[in-house]
Amino acid sequence: MSKINCIGILTSGGDSPGMNAAIRAITRTAISKGFSVKGIYRGYEGLMHDDIEEFTTESVSNIIARGGTILKSARSKDFMTPEGKQLAYETLKKEGIDALVIIGGNGSLTGARDFAQMFDVPCIGLPGTIDNDLYGTDLTIGYDTTLNTIVDCVDKIRDTANSHERIFFVEVMGRDAGFLAQNSAIASGAEAAIIPEDSTDADQLEHFIGRGIRKSKNSSIVIVSESPKCGAMFYADRVKKEYPQYDVRVSILGHLQRGGSPSARDRILASRLGAGAIDAILDGQRNVMIGIRNDEVVYVPFTDAIRSDKEINKGLIRVLDELSI
Ligand code: F6P
Repeated sequence: MSKINCIGILTSGGDSPGMNAAIRAITRTAISKGFSVKGIYRGYEGLMHDDIEEFTTESVSNIIARGGTILKSARSKDFMTPEGKQLAYETLKKEGIDALVIIGGNGSLTGARDFAQMFDVPCIGLPGTIDNDLYGTDLTIGYDTTLNTIVDCVDKIRDTANSHERIFFVEVMGRDAGFLAQNSAIASGAEAAIIPEDSTDADQLEHFIGRGIRKSKNSSIVIVSESPKCGAMFYADRVKKEYPQYDVRVSILGHLQRGGSPSARDRILASRLGAGAIDAILDGQRNVMIGIRNDEVVYVPFTDAIRSDKEINKGLIRVLDELSI
């Protein structure tokens, strides 16, 4: 195995709060262990088109509290092709980068796995996504901040829902995973959550309606996990049609969920995992995601991390049900 002198860092896919804290931790740990560091801009796009800069410890000063990513991010279609990966490999050679740390979600780590297989480049992943959908890690960087942002929004929606005695369907992000919807519903005292991991969407709505919708309450909030087919608008229309006596509104939170200063929890997680990435390289690890399980830093092979079946705690569905009577 050839010696690693220079480590390249990139952020890819949807940004998440805490990515900067991770960039800072990787850079500073790497430099303190004698590596040189290069920041790669715009994810795999920057790797293909040589948009790269040498990083010093100062490059990452005062970024731990900032949302987004100083390295910018992109979802690169070209990198998915063999030609794109070849171009990226040529840039790596030209820049003298011996190993990569990729901060991103499912798609980004899939790209890293394929790239590593094709060119035998040591790649280490960090779980950077608000969706919390990477297998093998209890938490992903950005999830906690986004959860708090959603809860903050729902608290505000609750005020107006109450004043007007309305039912609100609030749509949150999560792609194909219901972690954000499920847990924000519990934390905000919502009456129900509609998530992809539970019974069919129609059943979940029936269940909510079957409970008497509002009972003694004068307003209701249902958190709906985003879905191309049946988002919050779909349910609102159905309830409006079937129960015209109710005043129904929809609120789609959208990209505000991805912004903002990371929570203390995300900053600590990103710092631990960032340092863990460099320890992993020193440890001779290759092609693993650094995760956290039971408060321990763990190595998860890419192939496991990108499995799309991370389990939601089904017990929480019952908790939400019981608490919303
Ligand atoms: O994966 C993160 C995420 O925010 C998902 O929750 C959401 O479905 C998607 O990215 C939105 O992507 P974009 O910013 O490209 O619209």
